[in-house]
Amino acid sequence: MKILVTGGLGFIGSHTVVELQNKGYDVVIIDNCSNSSPEVIKGIISVTGKSPIFEKFDLREKEKVKEFFSRHNDIEGVIHFAASKAVGESVENPLLYYENNLSTLVYLLQELTNKASSHFIFSSSCTVYGQADELPITEDAPVKEAESPYGNTKQIGEEIIRDTCRVTPSLKAIALRYFNPIGAHPTAEIGELPIGVPQNLIPFITQTAIGLREQLSVFGDDYPTSDGTCIRDYIHVVDLAKAHVVALQRLLESKNTSNYEVFNVGTGTGSTVLEVIQSFEKVSGKKLNYKIVDRREGDITAAYADTSKANNDLGWKAQSSLDNSLSSAWKWEQKVRN
Ligand code: UD1
Repeated sequence: MKILVTGGLGFIGSHTVVELQNKGYDVVIIDNCSNSSPEVIKGIISVTGKSPIFEKFDLREKEKVKEFFSRHNDIEGVIHFAASKAVGESVENPLLYYENNLSTLVYLLQELTNKASSHFIFSSSCTVYGQADELPITEDAPVKEAESPYGNTKQIGEEIIRDTCRVTPSLKAIALRYFNPIGAHPTAEIGELPIGVPQNLIPFITQTAIGLREQLSVFGDDYPTSDGTCIRDYIHVVDLAKAHVVALQRLLESKNTSNYEVFNVGTGTGSTVLEVIQSFEKVSGKKLNYKIVDRREGDITAAYADTSKANNDLGWKAQSSLDNSLSSAWKWEQKVRN
């Protein structure tokens, strides 16, 4: 069965391609390589022994999207990762984000709504909840005004899919709201490859430990949490990738209860920044050079998932501990730098 993975050379995309191939699906990747490399395919092949089909083009090219679907009329499901994801850049260049993340979604859905049946998984984010009033966060928590154009593209993206599903019974879709994806494949054949200075905590930690960055800045220790640092729900990327496969299977097997559903994908456990540092130091055996600095603008105090819906309806549960996830991130960093 043929599945299209857009952005399949990216961090979460490549891990999902591996899990799909491990389950026997044939994968076609579309990626414009704006934030990834065709080299990733080698990693995918060394993990699975199988090569996905790869087509390099930009989904903003509507005619190419059309032409792609006319050549691949046997695609049974689409997992859509391709998007820009840098919060700061989205504030500087909102139109780039609205075009990259939303026009591409519209073009894909236009093709899918022409098919007799289609199954669509969308990369959403816990960022839609903002600072939730109650923790852990359930899917019923209200969507808050977005903090950035990036966050807004996730909210609007969900609305576009919801509205399209409402009038298109042949289209079944699931939006997965990711918490904080971290780690790398245990083989260290694929992992995260941030370009430039990492904005996210874990790649900054591993790059500091390997000597690429001098010091990690911990953004604030005066939050109302146990140690004053922010709390997040860090989920191993392989667990997250597996959630995509079970979500797709739910649609393919018509187990969905509505043709648009939303699931949180997290571990259900929150960790503070200092707990992450401690765990990293334990698994790597390295002392991390860090300093407490001022809060980062736009950061929320705490977010972690109530995962009951995914546990019950998808039969999925995150397996990896924080230690294990960080250990895989460290193994990957060491491999990349050597
Ligand atoms: C960030 C984005 C969010 C996006 C998510 C994707 C912002 C404000 N939010 O979320 O929209 O969906 O990435 O993965 O950019 N931290 C440090 N020092 C660092 C980096 C981070 O102390 O150098 C802290 C942060 O304050 C935060 C935690 O580590 O408490 C996690 O940060 P990060 O990895 O950037 O993720 P989010 O802020 O949750």
